[in-house]
Amino acid sequence: MKVLFAASEAVPFAKTGGLADVIGSLPKELVRQGMDVRVILPKYGEIPAHFKEKMETVATFTLQMGWRHLYCGILKLEHEGITFYFVDHENYFLRSGCYGYNDDAERFAFFCRAVLDCIPHIDFMPDVIHCHDWQTGMVPVLYRAHFSYQPEYAHIKTVLTVHNLKYQGVFGQEQFMDFFTLGPEHFGGFALELHGGASFLKGGLLYSDVITTVSPTYAQEIQTPYFGENLDGLLKSQRHRLHGIVNGIDYEEMDPMTDPHLEVNYRDSIIKKQLNKTKLQEKLGLPVNKDIPMIGIVTRLVEQKGLSLVAHVIEELMELDAQWVILGTGEYQYEQLFRWAADRYPDKMSAHITFNEKMARQIYAGSDMFLMPSQFEPCGIGQLIAMRYRSVPIVRETGGLKDTVIAYDDETGIGTGFSFSYYNAHDMLYTVNRAVKLYNEPLVWSKILSNIKKKDFSWRKSALQYASLYNQLVK
Ligand code: GLC
Repeated sequence: MKVLFAASEAVPFAKTGGLADVIGSLPKELVRQGMDVRVILPKYGEIPAHFKEKMETVATFTLQMGWRHLYCGILKLEHEGITFYFVDHENYFLRSGCYGYNDDAERFAFFCRAVLDCIPHIDFMPDVIHCHDWQTGMVPVLYRAHFSYQPEYAHIKTVLTVHNLKYQGVFGQEQFMDFFTLGPEHFGGFALELHGGASFLKGGLLYSDVITTVSPTYAQEIQTPYFGENLDGLLKSQRHRLHGIVNGIDYEEMDPMTDPHLEVNYRDSIIKKQLNKTKLQEKLGLPVNKDIPMIGIVTRLVEQKGLSLVAHVIEELMELDAQWVILGTGEYQYEQLFRWAADRYPDKMSAHITFNEKMARQIYAGSDMFLMPSQFEPCGIGQLIAMRYRSVPIVRETGGLKDTVIAYDDETGIGTGFSFSYYNAHDMLYTVNRAVKLYNEPLVWSKILSNIKKKDFSWRKSALQYASLYNQLVK
């Protein structure tokens, strides 16, 4: 089975969110299970120089986009057993960051075209092209419109994974006609039209052979108006092609037993974990006391992550007998909220409005609980890493959070964390308060930790599910 992953970001080359973690880790497990999986990405300016130095050019050709004939280079790099291809066109990709430019439609149209055009040049003939999110959503459309009738391409199947339905890649229809050479029959409500423009993501939903999203609950949720972002009708009508497969994490990369960023490595030793906590308290300037529960938040500071709930009851949260550490950047109002709280409650809150992997790992290791009250969450990766580092998740029951965290039940002793179902600040406050109280009951707490210990959030099972989808498509 040969699979080409097409995506706009991957660890360790370029990252803005969880998508990069998935693209950087799932292929490794698929390869381990015997498949030939390779990844194609844009060659962004921000890819670290030491990677760029090792890339070798495997092809250069001219790509036609509308009336333009454009240079396209393909470079190759082996990294941790995976072959990565990089699409080179400096005018589009030699910039800082990944997205947010006013010619993003053109940049990712070019990338989608390059994914298909490069195939005869790279000595790798995929059975499946697996696309991820809107940036690659037009690959299945281009495939049907311009490639599927060519003999060398005819066998290829396409899969689209939606990591977040909110990001849809909507641009003016004229741009689509031009960049993708599509006639008017491709527009209209049953085609690419969305919000008055046209959408890359909708194109992928319509034209891929299979649609997946990153948890079974999110796969259900997006068929309803609240989560559906105006695509719920379409998704509902396509539910026979829609699968929810929960994300895993890279168990080698994310391992408190070997993590070089930690003060003390550990797996199940509460004492060693507490050493990480006291080191963290020292480093953050919080009172050093292993008995005060430490609650971590590591996230992009955006509405999706449920931060308006936190804002609503911030004073009540700060009055709990707990310490808080937050790491992340994003919307100004939330950055300010946490700066304010750190200033107002210096013994309770330590806010770090930045992102840094080392600190993230130290928070997962040093915290006792990890808060993720998301408004919606296709999968969520933070709660998985938290459990791997034995930090107990407190989550809202939505999307992947619901699928991966089991609410602790006093009566049965079952459960791996704490959760609440309504998007309501006081329900969250109540749940955090309950967790803080139970932290002081060592028997309960160690029961929860031992429940977490039995769970497996590696990619193994989910990769098997992807493999079986590919097999069904190709047979
Ligand atoms: C997006 C989603 C997140 C998911 C990630 C990887 O960032 O918001 O829930 O875990 O993609 O699939």
